[in-house]
Amino acid sequence: MIRYKGLIDRYRNRLPVDDDTRIIELGEGNTPLIRLENIPEIKDYEIELYVKFEGMNPTGSFKDRGMTMAVTQAVSEGSRAIICASTGNTSASAAAYAARAGITAFVLIPEGKIALGKLAQAMMKGAVIIQIEGNFDDGMRLVKEVAKEAPVSIVNSINPYRLQGQKTAAFEIIDELGRAPDYHCLPVGNAGNITAYWIGYSEYANEATQSCTFCENKCRYECEKQTNVRPKMLGYQASGAAPFLRGEMVDNPETLATAIRIGHPQSWDLAWHASRESGGWFDEFSDEDILSVQKLLAEKEGIFCEPASAISLAGALRDIRSGKIEKQSCVTCTLTGHGLKDPDIAIQQSSAPVIKTDASLNNVKKAILDNIN
Ligand code: F0G
Repeated sequence: MIRYKGLIDRYRNRLPVDDDTRIIELGEGNTPLIRLENIPEIKDYEIELYVKFEGMNPTGSFKDRGMTMAVTQAVSEGSRAIICASTGNTSASAAAYAARAGITAFVLIPEGKIALGKLAQAMMKGAVIIQIEGNFDDGMRLVKEVAKEAPVSIVNSINPYRLQGQKTAAFEIIDELGRAPDYHCLPVGNAGNITAYWIGYSEYANEATQSCTFCENKCRYECEKQTNVRPKMLGYQASGAAPFLRGEMVDNPETLATAIRIGHPQSWDLAWHASRESGGWFDEFSDEDILSVQKLLAEKEGIFCEPASAISLAGALRDIRSGKIEKQSCVTCTLTGHGLKDPDIAIQQSSAPVIKTDASLNNVKKAILDNIN
C-alpha cells in the first residue's frame, strides 16, 4: 500500500522543498472532482460541468493547500510563530498546521463576522485568537505592520509559498481530466486563489513534454486535438464586496458570504493579470443569488458547500445560460469550503420540511405517506 502523504509529497518536484525538508502535512489535496449530473443547464447546453470540492481538505477548505507549504517553509526557516488575518478559513487552517508543527498561530479575525464552524476550529486547535473591531482588510493591515515588529511569519496569501501550494489544485484537475478545462470558475476575495490556479495552469501548459492523452505523441499541450491550453479564468464576487467589478477598492464590504467579505484584495494586480491573460472576466452576485445556488447544489447533487463557494457555480450557470460560456464547453468550478463551516446560514435559509410529531407509529407513518414522491 502506498499511503497518500499530501500534496507536497505528490508534487514535490514542482514545489520549493528539498529532500530533507520536514514536511508539515495533514493529507491535504487529492480532493474529489465531481461531475454534476442533475443541474438542468448541463443537458440544455451540453456542458461538461465539474466541481472541485475543496471542502474535503483536512480543515474543510482550500486553504490547507497553501498552509501546508507556508508552514513547512516557516518551520524550515526556524520560525516559532505564524500570524494571519482571516475571514475564518485561513485561521482554521493556520491553527491546524501550527498545532501539527508545534508552533504558535496568532489569528486576527473580524469580531462577529466569522462563521461558527471556523471559529470553533481555530479555538479547538489552540490558536491565539485576536478578535478585532474591524474587518478583514483592517486585520490584514495590522498583520503586515506587526510582523515588522514581532518574530512572526505571515501566512496570508501575500506569502508566496501559499500560492505555490494552492497551484496544485490546477495540477490535480489536469491530471484527472487529461486536459485543461475551457473555463475555470472561482469565488474571489483576497484574490490569492485565482492567482494560484493561474500559476498552476500556466506551469503545466508550459511543458510540452508530457505524454498526450489525446494522441500518441508526447505533445500534451501542443496537440491539435488539444484545443485548450489554459482555461479562461472567471472570478465572481458578492455585490457588496466587489472591488474587481467597481475597478477600485471598496471600503466597507458587506455580504452574508463572510468568507469573501473583503474590499481591499492583496493580490489585486496578479488577479487582473490572470483574468486578462486568460481572456476571462469578473462578475458579481447578490447574497440572495448566492444562497439559492448553494441550496440548488445541495438539493440536486447532494453537495454542501459554504455560501462563498457557491458563487463559482452561480457564475458558471448564469454565464452558460447567457452564452458567455460556449455550448459544449468543459467547465470546472472550485467549491472552496465545506457547508458545515457555516451551519447557521444553512439552517436559516433551509425550507426542508421538519415535521414534529409524538413518538407514535401512526403519526410517523402519516408523515412518510404525506411526503413521499
Ligand atoms: N472561498 C472561501 C471559502 C474562502 O474562505 C475564501 C477566502 C475565498 C473563497 C476567497 O479566496 O481570498 O484567495 O480570493 N478566505 C480567506 C480567509 C480570506 O481568511 O479564510 P481568495
